[in-house]
Amino acid sequence: MSTPFKLELAHRPRRLRRTASLRALTEETVLRPQDLIAPLFVIDGPGGPEAVPSMPGVFRLNLADLAKECRALHELGVPAVALFPSIDPKLKDPDGTVALREDALVLRAVRAVKEAVPGMTVMTDIALDPYTTHGHDGVLTPDGGDVDNDRTVGILCQMAVLHARAGVDLVAPSDMMDGRIGAIRAALDEADFQGTGIMAYSAKFASAYYGPFRDAVGSAKAAGTHGISKATYQLNPANRREALIEIALDEQEGADILMVKPAGPYLDIIREVRNATNKPVAAYQVSGEYAQIQAAAKLGWLELERCRRESLLAIKRAGADMILTYFAKEMAVELGR
Ligand code: PBG
Repeated sequence: MSTPFKLELAHRPRRLRRTASLRALTEETVLRPQDLIAPLFVIDGPGGPEAVPSMPGVFRLNLADLAKECRALHELGVPAVALFPSIDPKLKDPDGTVALREDALVLRAVRAVKEAVPGMTVMTDIALDPYTTHGHDGVLTPDGGDVDNDRTVGILCQMAVLHARAGVDLVAPSDMMDGRIGAIRAALDEADFQGTGIMAYSAKFASAYYGPFRDAVGSAKAAGTHGISKATYQLNPANRREALIEIALDEQEGADILMVKPAGPYLDIIREVRNATNKPVAAYQVSGEYAQIQAAAKLGWLELERCRRESLLAIKRAGADMILTYFAKEMAVELGR
């Protein structure tokens, strides 16, 4: 027989974990379909959905399928989609000029979604990587030794106005050039798009977790082309204060929503940003975060549904008001059950 042992405790936190209903009553963070933004990959032409091998369950969609997918997301209560075009390599050049064409794929995609589901919030990436042969987010300097910050920003401003004209609710500059938020805000206002918002990829880290995305849009070559690394514009994963500098600048320059990316490995940054600003905070659970959960689940090493939910809950708990995630649809389905 074991010796009786009694603690005299004023506090026994386990009391509130005793039953399912007590646990429900004391739950602090609640995930809702309306917290989610679905990133969607778009292809030109009539082709059927193309699987992205490193992202099981994710497909590149033609415009008709895109419209269908948006209708389904809308019915599930997902309020927003982020569109990413996958561009035919033959159309790419070093300056990414196809990004400025009036008939650019992404512009047609925006119109298709808005026509099919007028209530859907649509955002688009403002960066040149899907369009350039070298896969960098901007154009290069004449000697090819760097991404040309200011010339890139000029092009991004034109791009933002085109996207606004096509009807996006939010442009999302993901390029990490200096001064782009202020310049894009000014360009939008000048063109009378005062109502078009900016979701700034403010704290975007030079992350290995973007790998599967680069497969999906075919910008994989970028890592190191021309001897230039994306680390010359994206943040060093080691840096917290520098992330806060970027956040403060984007806020001052007129960003409506501030984003941290990736999300899961940067929960501390999400929390810091939440505490540093009163603007809405977005977090992007990126392709590699999605892929690692999918891969482990495929091997039978993790439970997909529980990890999916826990990963998103953690991002929200850290302080994100909204989450871009490739799990958006499945998560919304689960939340609606
Ligand atoms: C490009 C862009 C990237 C992502 C979103 N916009 C990749 C990159 O910077 O190479 C990554 C998203 C993901 O990994 O899911 N400007």
